[in-house]
Amino acid sequence: MAVAYNQRTHRCGELRKAHVGQTVTLAGWVNTSRDHGGMTFVDLRDHTGITQLRFTPDKSTAHAAARTLHNEDVIAVTGQVVSRGEWTNPKIATGEIEVEVTEIDVLSRCDPLPFQINDELDVGEDLLLKYRFLHLRRPEMQGIFRLRNTVAKAIREYFHEHGFVEIETPFLTKSTPEGARDYLVPSRVRPGTFYALPQSPQLFKQLFMIAGFDRYAQIVRCFRDEDLRLDRQPEFTQLDMEMAFVQREDVMNVVEGCVKRIFKDAMGLDIPLPLPRMTEHEAMERFGIDRPDTRFGLELRDVTELVRGLDFNVFRDAIDAGGVVKCIVAGGEKLTRKVTDGLTEELRGMGGAGLPLTKVAQGAAGIEFQTGIAKFFQPIAAKLCQAVGAKPGDTVFFMPGKYADVCKYLHHIRTRVAGILGIIPENQWNLLWIIDFPLLTWDEEEKRWASTHHPFTAPLDEDLHMLETDPGKVRDKAYDLVLNGTEMAGGSIRIHRKDVQSQVFRILGISDEEAKEKFEFLLDALRFGAPPHGGIAFGLDRWVMKLANANSLRDVIAFPKTQRAVCPLTNAPSTVSKAQLDELFLTIKPLPK
Ligand code: AMO
Repeated sequence: MAVAYNQRTHRCGELRKAHVGQTVTLAGWVNTSRDHGGMTFVDLRDHTGITQLRFTPDKSTAHAAARTLHNEDVIAVTGQVVSRGEWTNPKIATGEIEVEVTEIDVLSRCDPLPFQINDELDVGEDLLLKYRFLHLRRPEMQGIFRLRNTVAKAIREYFHEHGFVEIETPFLTKSTPEGARDYLVPSRVRPGTFYALPQSPQLFKQLFMIAGFDRYAQIVRCFRDEDLRLDRQPEFTQLDMEMAFVQREDVMNVVEGCVKRIFKDAMGLDIPLPLPRMTEHEAMERFGIDRPDTRFGLELRDVTELVRGLDFNVFRDAIDAGGVVKCIVAGGEKLTRKVTDGLTEELRGMGGAGLPLTKVAQGAAGIEFQTGIAKFFQPIAAKLCQAVGAKPGDTVFFMPGKYADVCKYLHHIRTRVAGILGIIPENQWNLLWIIDFPLLTWDEEEKRWASTHHPFTAPLDEDLHMLETDPGKVRDKAYDLVLNGTEMAGGSIRIHRKDVQSQVFRILGISDEEAKEKFEFLLDALRFGAPPHGGIAFGLDRWVMKLANANSLRDVIAFPKTQRAVCPLTNAPSTVSKAQLDELFLTIKPLPK
């Protein structure tokens, strides 16, 4: 008789002692099976957990069927819940009971597996991604995607409760300048023309405000062809929102409420509000980066003035060229010569020149510097140690050079040293707003100004007068939300006046013709009554990555791409037929040799 698998009485993680005596129907995957003294035991698994099934020889049909089972076969069973007595398994929630099976239905057999579901994983990522549906069967992956669901649900509910309207924006659209390369889609109907997949719905949400929707929020896919990292995927999901008639504070308040809700619903934690704020300038000064991890110290110290007079070329050349000298002080015996040599090599790999450092010791005549370059500093040893708070046993890592380079390299050293010293606390959530970014950043390669965020970001009112005369000094109305050193969300108050938007385009070197060609619809819309507005986008994948304590976005996206933007499951991207290309009037150039 077939077991009514569509009438499961329980899930596999639900049965307890109180159910003893009941007849139940369960269905799921064979996690393990084993024979024991004439009886066969099967651990049956579904997304809720595991129940032990017992097959005894007196139920001979069921028992015979059980003996043919392999891992990951799909079965349904009916039987009676019995106590395990002294054989209780405290490791699983159902460990006090087992089900004595009377009926079994083998619904589907499983071929030999490429990797085990019920065991330690020791296989390459490509194989895991090729058989992603098997990988996703594992309890830890089930946990991640259920967490993802909780986060998405919390966000959606929060915005609906606060009067936000959810409206979709197009995927087949025009390029949006978020700083990455576009993914292009050729048009068949107008051969030779292309849609761009949106890097974000930025312009459309601004149009929603001009259209009078007042508050918009959408969980939406974005596409960016950029160099991939552990926290970057070519397609990723944003919670994208925009509000009309608001100042920076209003948007930040709404976001803080949402962050609180996410932590409450997903982690059961109460995050204290308001969240701390730091200007971009302070973040760069203290941490060398605009998304600092504030869970640990090792802050950067500027020693340019202190070392200015020293007879040390490496420092003097940097200072003479208008640069700075900064340092980090770290204690502990773990910073051996081998470790610091390794760090120096890493910096060289990043394009740096080296890592001048010195050890602080207590000599007979007072504080002493050790290592090769120590002699240059000896005259100011005591003064320098006092200024930067270094004591005997500490290592001082110096970095001379251009401000931006010094920040980049010392940020790297700070993060690496903290890892080596093991001083980054786990289970701590340091949330932080970064505000007052420079509106523009000088692009040294292209010798022109570029937007720090995007070209629609409004300048601070009090800095507006410098837009033509001193553009590099103008700060903006942007805000980024940082969690333990990762940028979780970014947004801004927008430019809502056409004259200011045109002026910013000009400073960015976007000609009137180019602006017309690319953004005419926006400039047009700004002519027809645009309310002041602003918004933000959260990286949903990054939230899940952080909350799940995962290492990579690939762990929290159901079907992710590899480092080379490939999907091993579907083999995308792949070649297409000549007929498809012909239809689009496309020919593929041969690859350069
Ligand atoms: P931004 O470009 O800062 O802003 O993106 C917002 C947030 O999206 C996440 N994110 C990514 N996540 C995974 N993979 C990527 N490749 C990736 N790129 C970005 C980050 C980031 O903070 N339109 C603006 C928002 C606005 O101004 O309202 C925008 O997209 O968590």
